[in-house]
Amino acid sequence: MKAIVLIGGFGTRLRPITYSVPKQLIPIAGKPMLYHVLDLLPDDVEEVVLATGYKADAIEAYVRTHPGRWPIRTVPEATPLGTAGGMRNAGAGMSDPFYLLNSDVIAAADLGALAALHARRGGAGTISLFEVDDPSPYGVVSFGDDDRIAGFVEKPPAAEAPSRWINAGLSIWRRDVLDRIPTGREVSFEKEIVPGLLAEGVYGFRLSRYWDDAGTPDRLLHAQQLLFDDGRGGKGGVPPGARGTGPVAAMAGATARGASFGPYVTLGPGAVVEPGAHVERSVLMDDVVVEREATVVGSLLGPKVRVRAGHRVQGQVLGEGVEA
Ligand code: GDD
Ligand code: MG
Repeated sequence: MKAIVLIGGFGTRLRPITYSVPKQLIPIAGKPMLYHVLDLLPDDVEEVVLATGYKADAIEAYVRTHPGRWPIRTVPEATPLGTAGGMRNAGAGMSDPFYLLNSDVIAAADLGALAALHARRGGAGTISLFEVDDPSPYGVVSFGDDDRIAGFVEKPPAAEAPSRWINAGLSIWRRDVLDRIPTGREVSFEKEIVPGLLAEGVYGFRLSRYWDDAGTPDRLLHAQQLLFDDGRGGKGGVPPGARGTGPVAAMAGATARGASFGPYVTLGPGAVVEPGAHVERSVLMDDVVVEREATVVGSLLGPKVRVRAGHRVQGQVLGEGVEA
């Protein structure tokens, strides 16, 4: 089987960081969120096709230098085609069936079991589902018998959501679904295509342990916590010469001698946390510097951000190169 990964969105909810870096390359728990999604794919996948758009070159360059367990190919869109348009644009030579993954979801999901369920039940597709308190920012389903999906509505007003079970962004589809997607314009898979497939049988695959969409600052930091708690953030602990609880995932060349850490921190490549500084529940991207006695809590710091000595940054999202 092959997989299409949708990776062409603008990441608007993570601006200003996403003005310079595509959302999927923001590291959480020690590696870019894209690679946590790819980790879910079974070993026997033949090829991963990334349907790219916004900042396609940065993604292409990254995957060239960081190969996965399977061949990875990128297929960029000249203009944004929407989720379905991106699938169709990247779909030449697709397997039957194929995986479809959003590139910003963090989950415990057995995609081999998803494929087995799809093979058993047939129909047009099978969608992983997760139960959330507020389904309104997501695609929401209602059920018929036997977890057959009877209704699918994208981002309904809270009062109109038919259930609390949402599209978790990890699904599998019959190849001919790609042929239903109109060409030459932007098409939303969730709004324009999925509702029309329900009559042919679309089934739910319920996830139970954890799931989040890392597409907003709060949810990104929550997703990072989920990954660390599941042991997917490396060895834990704190970097050499630092103290505190951690877990901290320190990427290549990051240093933090004499610094202290609370829980759930990623230090991007080359990040420096100086002596006496303190960091917790945050992501510091490439070459960030946190000077002496500064504090960073619950924040997302873009590449080359500098937090000056003694300053405190809390609950902030700072774009590339900002001095705080
Ligand atoms: N190639 C391509 N082209 N990809 C796109 C485009 C596009 O025009 N627009 C968005 N994407 C990619 C994004 O990069 C992301 O990986 C994925 O498609 C979903 O887009 P988001 O913008 O993150 O959508 P969402 O989070 O609001 O909603 C989607 O995900 C939810 C689960 O996280 C929907 O699929 C919902 O139904 C779902 O519940
Ligand atoms: Mg999303």
